[in-house]
Amino acid sequence: MFYEPKKGCPFNIDPFKSLVFPRPIGWISSINKNGIANLAPYSYFNAIADEPPQVMFCSNGSSSHNKYKDTLSNILYSKEFVVNFATSTTRDQMNTTSQDFKPNEDEFYFSKLKKKKSKIVKVPSVKDSPVNLECKLIKTIKLKSNSKKISTMVIGEVIGIFIDNKFIKNNRVSSVSMRYIARMGYSEYTTISSKFNLKR
Ligand SMILES: Cc1cc2nc3c(=O)[nH]c(=O)nc-3n(C[C@H](O)[C@H](O)[C@H](O)COP(=O)(O)O)c2cc1C
Repeated sequence: MFYEPKKGCPFNIDPFKSLVFPRPIGWISSINKNGIANLAPYSYFNAIADEPPQVMFCSNGSSSHNKYKDTLSNILYSKEFVVNFATSTTRDQMNTTSQDFKPNEDEFYFSKLKKKKSKIVKVPSVKDSPVNLECKLIKTIKLKSNSKKISTMVIGEVIGIFIDNKFIKNNRVSSVSMRYIARMGYSEYTTISSKFNLKR
């Protein structure tokens, strides 16, 4: 099969997101102008550079109450965010935080997740995340859009990195034991539970 997306999709459900996988999930915390915390998962997310370390995620579409999703509105205001990671233990809480809560509703409260004070930024981190990346906004880029849906890429510099000591062994990070979850297509996810080495 071959198709050109601009001419239409030959499936009932657009399979694009099932073709680029697994996608890491940036579980992004931010605060609004009233200091209320926000938390939401973004799987159009990745690390994009390391000197200095930088990450990006894309906010597609709006919330039911605003032009932008709350995460984007908050970051445009405070210029800061934290990237947390969902694991097989926090998968249901991650899913809860993807609901369209109002700007003054704190997803930490609704998902019963504990906050942890971040070291540099004002935004709280997710306590149960094995890693927290404290970020400062570098820039946003408006993406091409065929519809009224606004798509914005957010690029941030990672200015503080927390790694839970229990995942550090012999001066290396023990990635598999963190049990990160990642997104496939539809409502499918995977847990990172195996690895292999390729020497270069
Ligand atoms: C696993 C997962 C990944 C998601 N990835 C994205 C994404 O990359 N971009 C996006 O705009 N929405 C994504 N969503 C939907 C948002 O999480 C959802 O719209 C959420 O309500 C946004 O919250 P906010 O308004 O507090 O930012 C994702 C949802 C889930 C469950």
